[in-house]
Parts: sequence; structure tokens; C-alpha cells
Amino acid sequence: MKKIIVAIDGYSSSGKSTMARDLARRIGYVYVDSGAMYRAVTLYALRHGMVVDGHLDIDALVKDLPEIGISFRAAGDDGVQHTLLNGEDVEKEIRTMEVSGMVSPVAAVPEVRHRLTELQRGFGRDRGIVMDGRDIGTTVFPDAELKVFVDASAEVRAHRRVKELLEKGEITDYESVLANIRERDRIDTTRKESPLKKAEDAVVLDNDRMTIPQQMDWLMEKFAERTKNN
Ligand code: CDP
Repeated sequence: MKKIIVAIDGYSSSGKSTMARDLARRIGYVYVDSGAMYRAVTLYALRHGMVVDGHLDIDALVKDLPEIGISFRAAGDDGVQHTLLNGEDVEKEIRTMEVSGMVSPVAAVPEVRHRLTELQRGFGRDRGIVMDGRDIGTTVFPDAELKVFVDASAEVRAHRRVKELLEKGEITDYESVLANIRERDRIDTTRKESPLKKAEDAVVLDNDRMTIPQQMDWLMEKFAERTKNN
């Protein structure tokens, strides 16, 4: 069967990554978390003193871009794919609230987007890939055969993220997570360079009231529809 590209876009904490990872596992495709790549660049900027009082030194970051290597290590015993920054496993470090607080300004820098888009296209060269993010169906793979746009209310998304952070042992509170989600939605949808928006040919999944197994059934059905004539 000919392999396709599955692009899953949507708002932060809408459950895209869980869906995308589970789908890739079930259909034997490669999964790429494009948000992890923006998070790794953000971690680099934080570690190199490029954020002072919440302000990003864009020039310094752009200058260092050729030095920033991002790759992935296949899922191990924990079933999770790990993100590597210049060879170092930073999977845990990129999920903190500190990184979440700066990632959208970093992701709004055009040079950062160009570099990561190029890397992402490289991952999809042979198709057979599920990638999730904000601009996968619109900019990275406008020719993806299956495009999904995931939506859920900010409150539901904040509850999910608090639960996830607590499970990882990070102390946090609902109000600050909700504020971060709203702020990232605002920056992601209003930035000039490939803002978050639904691709015209994307199918919408509103998963406010759906369980994970329900949304997986929905997604498998869409995948089967798109591949049945291949
Ligand atoms: O996990 P969550 O949905 O909260 O976010 P993520 O997928 O890890 O992405 C983190 C941030 O990276 C987003 O808020 C966007 O600012 C940025 N991003 C982007 O601009 N384009 C992408 N394709 C993926 C992420």
C-alpha cells in the first residue's frame, strides 16, 4: 500500500501528540513531534542566556541557528520518542513551564521556522509519516493526503495539561497553565509567518467530550478512507 503523510495541527494541549503517536504506532509510520523541535530551540536559547527578563535576543538566536542540531531517538522501553539537542537527551527539559513560557516567541521568528520546516520536510521525504504541530498541513506538507485540525476549549486543554505536568512531578497551578495556553494560542494564531490556522482541506476534530479510544477510532476511520484506493 502506498504510504501517505498525515498532518495533525491544532491548539496547544489539544491532545494532538497522543493521537499522532498512537496512530503512527498502529499503522507502522514514523511519528515526528514538530513542537518538540521548537521547544528544543527554546531550551537552547534559555541555556545560552538569550532570554533576559522574558525578552528574547532574536539576533543572537538567529546567529547560532547553524549550531543547533535537533534529532530524535526512537521510542525505548518507556514507549516515548526522545528529543535530542546536539546529541543530548532533553526530552524532560523541553516540557517544563519555563520552556512553554518562551516557545511561542521563539517559534514566531521566521529564520527559526525556515530551518525547522526544512528539517521536517526531510523527515517526510519518503512519506509514511505522522507529524503534529501548528503549520504541518498548511506550510510544511501542503500536499499531505490526510490533514486533521484538532480543537478543544482552552479550559479543557488546561485541565489536561495540569494533569500531565503533575504526573511528571512538576508543581503547577491551573490558572497559570490556562494563562500560558491562552497566550500561546494568541501568539500562534496572530504571528506573520505561517500562523496556526485550519488548512482548507483539513477535517476538524473537536475532542472536548471525546475519550482517547473514541478519537483513535475516528482517526483510524479517516486514515482508512484516505488510503483505501492506494
Ligand atoms: O504540547 P503543546 O501542544 O502545548 O505544544 P507543542 O506542540 O509542544 O508546541 C509548542 C509550541 O511550538 C507551540 O505553542 C507553537 O508556538 C510552536 N509550534 C509551532 O509554531 N509550529 C509547529 N509546527 C509546532 C509547534
